Amino acid sequence: MPIEVLQADITTLDVEAIVNAANETLLGGGGVDGAIHRAAGPGLLAQCRALPEVRRGVRCPTGEARITDGHRLRARYVIHTVGPVWRGGHAGEAGLLAACYRNSLQLATEHGIASIAFPAISCGVYGYPPAAAVPLAVSEVRAWHEAHGGLERVVFACFGDAMAASYRAALG
Ligand code: APR
Repeated sequence: MPIEVLQADITTLDVEAIVNAANETLLGGGGVDGAIHRAAGPGLLAQCRALPEVRRGVRCPTGEARITDGHRLRARYVIHTVGPVWRGGHAGEAGLLAACYRNSLQLATEHGIASIAFPAISCGVYGYPPAAAVPLAVSEVRAWHEAHGGLERVVFACFGDAMAASYRAALG
């Protein structure tokens, strides 16, 4: 299965699903979350708002994922996942970030999605060091494919030369 690294705005990619680095409210934000909502249009927010809260103000707990339509995006689906906020590395961050990738891929498999793009989850506002997050992302995607198959194309969509180099190094 080809894994690509593209320096691109994830909202422009021609894949079946793009993954959103969201927050637990699923009501939008900045960064990639803001870009996806801007490109998808108001229908995405409306659909997210209609998702059930698991507790007050929380539609998607950290580490979990939810799927919606892509609305005005080229992608048919958006898979929203909530990465951990980096708190120094001793608060279970790695396990939660790994769960983001696994739960996103689980939803993709359940929906027969064969092409998917991931941003660098938690590596922006949430402060996760790319040196730790990027190898984890690559190993989780590879492990999922080896165990479950089903994926024809995975794209890591990133901003910046350094981030792209980090993914390429992790892919070996
Ligand atoms: N396409 C691809 N990558 C992007 C895009 C985009 N359009 N916009 C930002 N990025 C990159 C950032 O440069 C960073 O490397 O995505 C990575 C993730 O950064 P954030 O979007 O800040 O996501 P995260 O660190 O997971 O923080 C999530 O930020 O936007 C809010 O609502 C969101 O509260 C949540 C928090």
